[in-house]
Amino acid sequence: MLLAQITDPHVKAGRRLAYGFVDTAGLLEAAVDHVNALRPAIDATLVTGDLTDTGGPDEFAALRPILDRLAMPWYVVPGNHDRRDTFLAAFADRLYLAGCRDFVQYAVDDHPLRLVGLDTTVDGQPHGFLGRDRLDWLDACLAAAPDRPTLIFMHHPPFETGIRHMDVQNLRNGADLFDVLARHPQVRHVACGHVHRPSETVIRGIGVSIAPNSAHAVTLDLDPAGPSSFTLDPPLVRLFRYGTDGLVVSHVSAVGAFDGPHPFFAADGSLVD
Ligand SMILES: [Fe+2]
Ligand SMILES: [Fe+2]
Repeated sequence: MLLAQITDPHVKAGRRLAYGFVDTAGLLEAAVDHVNALRPAIDATLVTGDLTDTGGPDEFAALRPILDRLAMPWYVVPGNHDRRDTFLAAFADRLYLAGCRDFVQYAVDDHPLRLVGLDTTVDGQPHGFLGRDRLDWLDACLAAAPDRPTLIFMHHPPFETGIRHMDVQNLRNGADLFDVLARHPQVRHVACGHVHRPSETVIRGIGVSIAPNSAHAVTLDLDPAGPSSFTLDPPLVRLFRYGTDGLVVSHVSAVGAFDGPHPFFAADGSLVD
């Protein structure tokens, strides 16, 4: 099974440029076209929050036709730049969201890897938090399918990256989340967004990753006093391969046209010199 993850597209209405010069709608279109063109074909795509830049219905109206271009099933969770009410209104036709009211959490059982989306958002705040009700929901959700290998996806990462101005707005209670996950050994991976830059770690034996930017990147500045800023790094999408060995393996794939592929070997089998 192959999964793609696009995160933090920050789409604005009317093709407005984010921060004055980032064509976020165009960059999301490019990422979607890239995921659609990958071979073997991607089985499902996760879109992990900050779908819009300010959460207005006009921005979701601009976002939706771009996501509708995805050629495979796709699953969304909100980020801190979204609003839960406009989010749910924009995706009211998505059956997997039908039961969501106070928070946007659901499980998808249609694939070899069970997909569980979590809502880490706090109304009006940039940081993430999973209250007792959301954690209890997760505990029950995982207890209901202990034999199904599972990938969790959500917006705010539960670890510090060293990029200080982002770390102060990560998931505040990651330890509470992993107290739940540790009771359910079928959980194979936790996929996050929010930081606009790829990063990975392991928490209590579970791999945790942040997907890279497909639009603007947060500047890689590990100086604790570093200012908040962004760069236009090459856009990337995260891929996950869930193999017959039961492992979830991550890749990044660069969006754009690049020279190649070129063969390593000539027709006679010799290494090209
Ligand atoms: Fe973001
Ligand atoms: Fe965010």
